Amino acid sequence: MDQNELKAQVGAEAVKYVKDGMIVGLGTGSTVRYMVDALGKRVQEEGLHIVGVTTSTRTTKQAESLGITIKDIDDVDHIDLCIDGADQVDDDFNGIKGGGGALLWEKIVNNASVKKIWIVDQSKLCHRIGAFGVPVEVIPFGAQHVFNRFVKKGYKPQWRMTDDNKKYRTDENNYIIDLKVGEIADPHALAEDLIHTVGVVEHGLFLNRVDMVIVGRDNGPEVLQ
Ligand code: 5RP
Repeated sequence: MDQNELKAQVGAEAVKYVKDGMIVGLGTGSTVRYMVDALGKRVQEEGLHIVGVTTSTRTTKQAESLGITIKDIDDVDHIDLCIDGADQVDDDFNGIKGGGGALLWEKIVNNASVKKIWIVDQSKLCHRIGAFGVPVEVIPFGAQHVFNRFVKKGYKPQWRMTDDNKKYRTDENNYIIDLKVGEIADPHALAEDLIHTVGVVEHGLFLNRVDMVIVGRDNGPEVLQ
């Protein structure tokens, strides 16, 4: 199976956990896209009643186009189930997110959710996270100073750029700096350091924040929990 088939496989598998009446957190990314398509199909064909809370304007657009009702996160008091993708996941369910630039809203939705599932193809699993790089969302004011601080710390920062060579802007109009740190020996220590750096809004280290990971494999989806 190619990577897209594996993404479609886990997307279809994950929506089996969505029950009538649920408030569902909808992540962001190419894997989540397949999941939202599958969820939209259930809404249209089975008359499933759910409310979605999204993690990006991209996902909002897609979900609404499929007839899924979307509410603002502050208009719900909790989220029953959040289904999101990830860039890397280790054996302890520590992950890196933010490849799609939505890490801030994704972490907020993750925090507000009772049950959390990640959907990934088999290439995302690793023993130690870090090779992907750690996305860090920073406010524009003084962002170059934050970048320089990361250089001094040896974090090998790179600005996230758009195809037309401008600094990438998140849904909150912030920048993203990707840290090319390589495999991380102590992700908790790095997370602590990043979140205490003035100017950093959030980082893409999601440490032990999910209950289940559904992995797309050639012989069918594998559920890890
Ligand atoms: C977006 C994310 C995505 O979930 C992550 O990048 C995985 O994306 P994809 O399914 O396209 O590989 O964190 O901010």
